[in-house]
Amino acid sequence: MIYPLDTHRNEAGHLVIGGCDVVDLVQEFGSPLYVYDEATIRAMCRSYVDVLAENYPNFSVTYAGKAYIDLAVLRIVADEGFGLDAVSGGEIQCAVAAEFPMERVIFHGNNKLPDEIELGLSAGIGRFMVDGLDDLRLISQVASDRQTTANVMLRLTPGISAHTHDYIRTGALDSKFGLPISTGQAEEAVRLALESSGVSLIGYHAHIGSQIFDTEPYAQTVEVLLGFAEQMHDKYGVCPEVLSPGGGCGVQYVEEDDGLEIERLVKVICRTFKDGLPAGVEPELALEPGRSIVANAGVALYSVGTLKEIPGIRKYVAVDGGMADNIRPALYGSEYKVDIASREADGECSTVTIAGRYCESGDILFKDVSLPELRNGDIVAAATSGAYNLAMSSNYNMALRPAVVFVKDGQATLSRRRETYDDLLAVFPGA
Ligand code: LLP
Repeated sequence: MIYPLDTHRNEAGHLVIGGCDVVDLVQEFGSPLYVYDEATIRAMCRSYVDVLAENYPNFSVTYAGKAYIDLAVLRIVADEGFGLDAVSGGEIQCAVAAEFPMERVIFHGNNKLPDEIELGLSAGIGRFMVDGLDDLRLISQVASDRQTTANVMLRLTPGISAHTHDYIRTGALDSKFGLPISTGQAEEAVRLALESSGVSLIGYHAHIGSQIFDTEPYAQTVEVLLGFAEQMHDKYGVCPEVLSPGGGCGVQYVEEDDGLEIERLVKVICRTFKDGLPAGVEPELALEPGRSIVANAGVALYSVGTLKEIPGIRKYVAVDGGMADNIRPALYGSEYKVDIASREADGECSTVTIAGRYCESGDILFKDVSLPELRNGDIVAAATSGAYNLAMSSNYNMALRPAVVFVKDGQATLSRRRETYDDLLAVFPGA
């Protein structure tokens, strides 16, 4: 699946998502515009929950808010029974604003700040994910000062190298994240947690990376988690209540991608987990997907502006967005499926390069894509734009972040308004 579940063309040849004609959406909400289909997000949530419920009923699923966060998505995932993996004070504040069940929030991060830990404790978040020894000391200190105890899990570095882009691989020993098992730091963290009054050690976690297509590294990760838990039990008598092999399920961006079926991944995780558990022990199995929940539910819409042809070399088509709303092509060389959204894709196609409008030669959104002759005013759609696009957006060139709408049964609801010049100027004293 590349586009949201209910995507088709109407008689006018316009793309229709969740019952909404995208040309109407752009007219009403402006361009560029990000459209999320609620039904697809819910279906993705359910594909985790259904397989887990059938195969290992003591589970939890936590949405990694870094993939995309706003109040609408938080309300949907909360409604589907999910928790939230938050990585900053800002994400915790979003959860508070969305009236998210805070006991289902888990706070990750390799350098949590004291005031963020305070915020997490006062907001009543359920768990802290310890990323290192200093992080553990700080969480314990802040919690003790407040005369409370924080539930902590330890993020372990399992020493597993998954096949994905270097920038999004996190399970290998040489990573800024986590407590390496092989160096003894993970064990040291267990000892420290057991003797610290501000924390209660409830389990172990590992996240090996993102956009992973293989189930094998997950099976290995589960085995490493279970092996570590057993060792710590034998040495210190500590039994984990929860074990988590993280998130990272790969999705389809272009037709050549395989994607990783959620069902297949979850089955492998459950099977390896059950096979490795000692008899009579059933800790919570916690998963933490981000991309696979929202990526294919989101479509970016851009309007075509200027055209430039360098004969014999390249045709550039510039749109009204670019690296400020989607830095992934520039950062990772990511590819997307791009289509004309405002009319039928008939006629001959040619190879064009869709450029952004920002001041950097590398601001190319979609290189060498095959599209019919584009004209000023056409709307193009980029599928699989729901994860890590707007989440990593910036105000480069004082760009205004686009609006976001959620569509459902032919209704579109604004979930993020387009930024204004006033928003940009508000940060400058004296402006
Ligand atoms: N858990 C932890 C600890 C993580 O660090 C991440 C993602 C997730 C869960 C969710 O992983 P997912 O299911 O979304 O793959 N900006 C990159 C992706 C960075 C992923 C960061 N961590 C991209 O655009 O591809």
